[in-house]
Amino acid sequence: MAGKENQVTGYLLFSLGTAVIGSLQFGYNTGVINAPEQKLRSFFNDTWVERYGVPITPGVCTIVWSISVAIFSVGGMVGSFSVGVMANRFGRRRSMFLVNCLAVIGGLLMGFSTICSSYEMVIAGRLVIGLFCGLFTGLTPMYVGEVSPTPLRGAFGTLHQLGVVVGILIAQIFGLEALLGSAKLWPLLLALTVAPAVLQCILLPFCPESPRFLLINLKQEEQARKVLVRLRGSEDVSKDMQEMKEESAKMAMEKKVTIPELFRSPLYRQPLLIAVMLQLSQQLSGINAVFYYSTGIFESAGVKQPIYATIGAGIVNTVFTVVSLFLVEKAGRRTLHLVGLGGMAISAVLMTVALLLKDIPVMSYMAIVAVMLFVAMFEMGPGPIPWFIVAELFSQGPRPAAMAVAGCCNWTANFLVGMSFPKLVEWCGPWVFLIFATSLILFFIFTYLKVPETRGKTFDEIARSFGGDPLPTSSSVEDPPASASAATTLPASPVKE
Ligand code: GLC
Repeated sequence: MAGKENQVTGYLLFSLGTAVIGSLQFGYNTGVINAPEQKLRSFFNDTWVERYGVPITPGVCTIVWSISVAIFSVGGMVGSFSVGVMANRFGRRRSMFLVNCLAVIGGLLMGFSTICSSYEMVIAGRLVIGLFCGLFTGLTPMYVGEVSPTPLRGAFGTLHQLGVVVGILIAQIFGLEALLGSAKLWPLLLALTVAPAVLQCILLPFCPESPRFLLINLKQEEQARKVLVRLRGSEDVSKDMQEMKEESAKMAMEKKVTIPELFRSPLYRQPLLIAVMLQLSQQLSGINAVFYYSTGIFESAGVKQPIYATIGAGIVNTVFTVVSLFLVEKAGRRTLHLVGLGGMAISAVLMTVALLLKDIPVMSYMAIVAVMLFVAMFEMGPGPIPWFIVAELFSQGPRPAAMAVAGCCNWTANFLVGMSFPKLVEWCGPWVFLIFATSLILFFIFTYLKVPETRGKTFDEIARSFGGDPLPTSSSVEDPPASASAATTLPASPVKE
C-alpha cells in the first residue's frame, strides 16, 4: 500500500498533534502526584491543625493521601464510560473541546486548595481531573484512528501513548524539588494542567471533525469529502470515501450500538473479549506499580538516588514508545504485543531475583536494569496497542460503546493495581513481581491464541473478519472479493504476517 494513501500532510499532523494534547494531559496527571507526596501530607496536617487545633494522625493522613491518589482512577472509570454518549452526541472534535472545561475546573480546585486551606479541594480536583482524563483516553484514540490513513493507523495510534509517556516524564521533571515540587509551588504543579487545556481549545477550531463522523453519523458527504481532501492533500479520496460509505451502508442496518446491545449481540462477543483482555493485559502487567511506586521499589532494592532512577525509567519509557511507533506498521500489532508481554515477564522474574538478593551490592544495578527492561518491553506493545486497537476492532456503529467498555476496564484494573500494590508488597515482600509475571504469561497465551493481526486492514475488513456482516451490504458498493476472502482468514487462529 504505497503511494497516495501514505501521504502525510501538515494538516493531518497538526490535527493529530492537537488531539494528543489530551493524551499528554492523561500522562501528566498520572505522574504528577508522586513527587510532592510529603508536601501534600504536610498540607493536610496544617489544615487539620488550623481547623481542629491538633495534628492529623498518621492513619488519617494516609487515608486522605490514598484517596487523593486513587480518586483519579475512579473519575477515570466514570469518564471513560461516558465516552460513547458524548462522542456520538457532540461529535469527536466538539467533545474534546467541551471536556477541557473539566481540566480548568479540576486544575483551579487543586491550585487554590492551599489558599482556601481545603484538602477537600485537592480530592475534588483529582476526581474532576480523573473524569477529564477518562474521557480523553477514549476520545483521542477514537479521533486519531478515524482521521488516519489505513496504512499508518498503527503508527499514529501509538501517538496517543507517546503523548501519555511524555506527559509522565514532564510531570516527573517538573515535580523535582528544585522546580515545582517544592512546599510552596506544588499547587501550581497540580494546576498546570489548565495550560494545555486552554491551548487545545485554541487549536481545536482549526482541526476538522472526523470525516467518518461527518459521513457515517451526520450523512454530510460533501463535508466529509472536503475534510478528507485537506487531510490527505489529494483530490482523489475516492478510496477512503468508498470505504466509509461501505461502513455507512452497514450502519444503516446496524444503527448505533448501545453498551447493553454490545454485550448482547454475539457479533461483537469476540472483538469485545479481545479488546477487554488487551486492556487488562496492559494494566495487570503491573506497569503502574512501577509508575506509582518506583521510587519505593528502587529504595528497597538499595538504589542510592531513587528519584533519578525514576526519571531514567521515564526516559526509557519515552524512547521505547518512539521505537514502537516505527515498528508497529512493520512488525504488526500482534507480534509486538507478544514480544512486549514476554519481555515483561522475563523482566519481572529478574526483578524478583534482584529484590531477593539485594544484599549483594551489584543487585541494585540489576534492579534498575530489570525495571528499565520492564518499562521498555511495555512500550513495545502492551502500552500503545490496547489503546488504539479497540478503535480498529469495531466499525463505526459499535466503536464508541466499545471504547467506553474497554476504557472503563482499563481504568478499573489501573485502580485495583494502584490500590493493592502496597498491600501486596506487605504480604509477598520481594516475591511480589511474580504475581505480575504469572499474569503476563497468561495474557501472552491469550494473545497468541486469540488476537488477530489488524495491520493494514480497513475497519470494515476487520469487523467482517469476526464473522459479522452476514448480509452482503456490499451489493450497493464495490467490494473486491480478494479483500473479503483475505479478511475471513483473519480471526481466531494466529495469523502470521
Ligand atoms: C499506558 C497506561 C497507563 C500507564 C502508561 C505508562 O498509557 O494506560 O496507565 O501509566 O501507559 O506509560
